[in-house]
Amino acid sequence: ELCHNKTQQFRQRIVQTFEKAMMESVNESQANHYNVDYKPVFGDSFEEQYYPSTCLVMEAGVRVLRRKDEPFNKLPFGRLFPRQKLFRNVKDIKTCAIVSSAGSLAGSKLGRFIDTHDIVMRFNHAPTQGHEVDVGSKTTIRVVNSQVVTKPEFDFTHAPIFRNVTIAAWDPGKYNGTLEDWLTSADYDLFTNYEIYRRRYPKSRAFLIDPHSVWRLWQSLQMFAGNRPISRNPPSSGFIGLALLLPHCPQVDFVEYVPSTRLNGRCHYYSKEMNSACTFGSWHPLAAEKLMALDMNMAEDDDMSVFQFGILRIRRPDKL
Ligand code: C5P
Repeated sequence: ELCHNKTQQFRQRIVQTFEKAMMESVNESQANHYNVDYKPVFGDSFEEQYYPSTCLVMEAGVRVLRRKDEPFNKLPFGRLFPRQKLFRNVKDIKTCAIVSSAGSLAGSKLGRFIDTHDIVMRFNHAPTQGHEVDVGSKTTIRVVNSQVVTKPEFDFTHAPIFRNVTIAAWDPGKYNGTLEDWLTSADYDLFTNYEIYRRRYPKSRAFLIDPHSVWRLWQSLQMFAGNRPISRNPPSSGFIGLALLLPHCPQVDFVEYVPSTRLNGRCHYYSKEMNSACTFGSWHPLAAEKLMALDMNMAEDDDMSVFQFGILRIRRPDKL
């Protein structure tokens, strides 16, 4: 009983911190670098506004670009896109794990649990080597941002960490930009290294995420937030990954995204950097993402699972 109350108190603290972070992050990012001109529609009542969060995320339709998509069907660049689907044997996929890179994964001993899932998603250059006990060793897919694809220190076109796994790379472009605009105005030119990678490894499953779908996800997040404006920057890789995976997976376990009581102030489990903005957000609308993810949690013992073990369980809605 006592322990349960403690978990509830922790939950309240976390939710309050997210709510506060949501307010503060908007003041910080008034710049509107992406020219977001979304006008929120404010419903009058809770009943009018409320819509299940999993459905909102599914409806964003986060996806990878395909050869047949305009304008890539007319451009030589589009022929670089793999013919394969994002995942093989989708019908056999029952459970998926998404491993956030949060510092509080350190010491979690969740590695074995993570590796039991059919699909394991990781982000950017987050390593498994040397961290197997806490984060596991299986990787099916990596969602990588355009900085990781571009900056020399990550060595995207050679580093073993990006080989023999599915890659889904993203860059936001501008909010209302066309895909043609995107090809010349990405935040970081991910196209050059994508091309090098695809030519070097023609059998690889390396995809680009449709930037329009990233902004649709942002809109879903703003709809969830209702009359509280969220920062006008794209969602984090973690949230994009969730939205990309959910349509392919009946059950997703998102590990240490909503922080557990292991919360330790570290940014990543693989570095010593202390920075709570990595967890609570300042640039990305991360606090809103995490409140929305918590709203999607279906674990039966919900508080124990999320706040003691660090596991948020999300079930895909049967039909939209
Ligand atoms: O820092 P990076 O973007 O590589 O981390 C991958 C993802 O893990 C983030 O996009 C975010 O969704 C999640 N993350 C988190 N809390 C942290 C660090 C990362 O939720 N402290």
